[in-house]
Amino acid sequence: MERSLTLELVRVTEAAAISSARWLGRGKKHEADDAATKAMRAVFDTVPMNGVVVIGEGEMDEAPMLYIGERLGMGGPGAPEVDVAVDPLEGTNIVANGTWNALSVIAVADRGNLLHAPDMYMEKIAVGPKARGRVHIDATVEENIRAVADALDKDVEDVVAVVLDRPRHAALIEDIRRAGARIKLIPDGDVSAAIHTAFPQSGIDILFGIGGAPEGVIAAVALKCLGGDFMGRLKPQNDAERARLKAMGISDPNRVLVLDDLVQGEDAIFAATGVTDGELLRGVRFTGASARTHSVVMRYKSGTVRFIDAEHRLERKPNYVVR
Ligand code: FBP
Repeated sequence: MERSLTLELVRVTEAAAISSARWLGRGKKHEADDAATKAMRAVFDTVPMNGVVVIGEGEMDEAPMLYIGERLGMGGPGAPEVDVAVDPLEGTNIVANGTWNALSVIAVADRGNLLHAPDMYMEKIAVGPKARGRVHIDATVEENIRAVADALDKDVEDVVAVVLDRPRHAALIEDIRRAGARIKLIPDGDVSAAIHTAFPQSGIDILFGIGGAPEGVIAAVALKCLGGDFMGRLKPQNDAERARLKAMGISDPNRVLVLDDLVQGEDAIFAATGVTDGELLRGVRFTGASARTHSVVMRYKSGTVRFIDAEHRLERKPNYVVR
């Protein structure tokens, strides 16, 4: 992959974030998602790559754009052949409610290197670089929390675990409390939560719990770039989902997926732009004629993590904003 692709991908997440941020707090999650998807799709046409969507807005018959299998990018001589995972709006309810940590995200790897995760649940555990290799999805919650405390040179009671606030996590939450750690319960958005484990200033040390599998692959790319760790286990909920796993070649539904199962190879890029404010990224600010965005882009091969603060003149970017 070309180094310049990193900046091209930020242009794509910026456009999606600006468009969906227009829907902040309006109670319309589908409209916010559509706006992000349309803007993301339009800007992808200007990116010099030959991409195929492996994680997107759904199957071809259910999503008009950014569907699985869709070709993206304008190609051109030497354009890289890549797998693309997109979540134009990660946190549709977050934008609808005007709360924290909605992102527009893209993860890219060389063709064939991203797990084509089906739209089902995944059990996840994520930590930052210092705790890499120290936790395991099959260890107990207490063992994992102690390992993180040790890796971060903290007392157990200073460890903060982040968990999606869902009834399915009642026992997990109990286990974390019993182990002596603190908890941050979030209403949505486990991609940003997973990434936060790699940034001490976020105040989050470990992510536990079950969320979307596509979001798991996207978060895994970010943690691979950041030198952190991520493990997942797909959680089929019915026979159709179990059949889907078999078709993917996963005959054991309990198989643990480590970072290199989720994203293989020696190169990968992750880009995200904040739609609403969060611990790591500021949300989009509209100031009349312009919009300001805050993004992060990272590349596994070089290990570079860039934060990009951009000002966009909206009248010159008619594709961006759905009014
Ligand atoms: P959407 O952006 O599709 O609304 O997903 C938000 C999210 O919170 C993800 O971050 C998370 O992985 C998933 O939903 C959890 O699913 P559920 O709401 O079914 O618990």
